[in-house]
Amino acid sequence: MPEIIVDHLTHTFGKGTPDALTVLDDINLTFESGSFNAIVGTSGCGKSTLLKMMAGLFDPSDGRMTLDGDVIRGTDRRRGMVFQQDAVFPWMTVAKNISYGPRLRGAGRAEQREIEAKWTEMVGLKGFEDRWPRELSGGMRKRVDIGRVYANDPDVLLMDEPFGALDAQTKERMQSDLLAAWAQSRKTVVFVTHDLEEAIFLADRIVVMSARPGRIRHIEQVSLPRPRTDEMRLTDEFIQVKRRLWEMLDH
Ligand SMILES: Nc1ncnc2c1ncn2[C@@H]1O[C@H](COP(=O)(O)OP(=O)(O)OP(=O)(O)O)[C@@H](O)[C@H]1O
Ligand SMILES: [Mg+2]
Repeated sequence: MPEIIVDHLTHTFGKGTPDALTVLDDINLTFESGSFNAIVGTSGCGKSTLLKMMAGLFDPSDGRMTLDGDVIRGTDRRRGMVFQQDAVFPWMTVAKNISYGPRLRGAGRAEQREIEAKWTEMVGLKGFEDRWPRELSGGMRKRVDIGRVYANDPDVLLMDEPFGALDAQTKERMQSDLLAAWAQSRKTVVFVTHDLEEAIFLADRIVVMSARPGRIRHIEQVSLPRPRTDEMRLTDEFIQVKRRLWEMLDH
C-alpha cells in the first residue's frame, strides 16, 4: 500500500485576486503505507480542501503531494474518496451504485454481481440490493457511498466526515465495520472528522490543525492496541488523549 507525502503545501483560493483566501499554510505530512490517519480541526480550517487535493480534484497553489514518489495530479482509481455530502446516484439501485466503478472499467456481469454481493453485505445492506436511494435512510445512503468506494478497491481511502450525520449507535457500528474491513486490506486511510472519540478509536495517528489558514498544530500517536474494542473508549488512556486533543483545538 502506498505512502503519501504532503510537501510544503499551501493553498490559496482565488490567488492573485482581491478575494484571495489562504486556506492551508505550509502543510508537511507523511501518511505511511497502510496506516490509519485522522485529521481534526475546527470548521473551515481546510480539511476538505486538503482531502480533495489528495484525491486530485484540483492542484495546490504551492507545494506538492506525492504518492509513492509520483506527484498527485488528477483523479485516479487508486485514490478513493467518500465525500462529506453523500454522492449516491439517485437513478441507480443500491447494487448498481456499488458496482458503478467496476462497470465503468468494463467488468463483466458475473464480476459485477460478485462485487455487489460482497460489498452490500460488507456495509450491512444485504436485502436492500434492489432498493432505490430515495427508499433509504441517510445512514443507509452513506453505507452505499462507502460500499461504492470500497468496491473500486482503492489503495488509498480518503474519507471526509463519512459518519458525521449518523446517530451514535449507527456511527459506532460503522466505525467497527470500517476497522474490520481495513484490518483485512490495510489500505492507507486519511479520515477527516470533528469527533475526537471517533479519531482516537480509529486512527494510529491524529493530525490536529489550527483554524484557517490551516496549519499542523500537533500530531498525536495513538498507542491503543488493535483490534480496537468499544471498551477501550472508557480507558484512562483514551480519555487522556481526548482531553489533550480537546485542549489543542481552537474553540
Ligand atoms: N472552491 C472554493 N472556493 C473558494 N473558497 C473555498 C472553496 N472551497 C472551500 N473554500 C473555503 O475554504 C475554507 C476551508 O474550507 P474546507 O471545506 O476545506 O473546510 P473544512 O475544514 O472541511 O470545514 P468543515 O469542518 O466545516 O467541513 C472555507 O473558508 C471555505 O469557505
Ligand atoms: Mg469539510
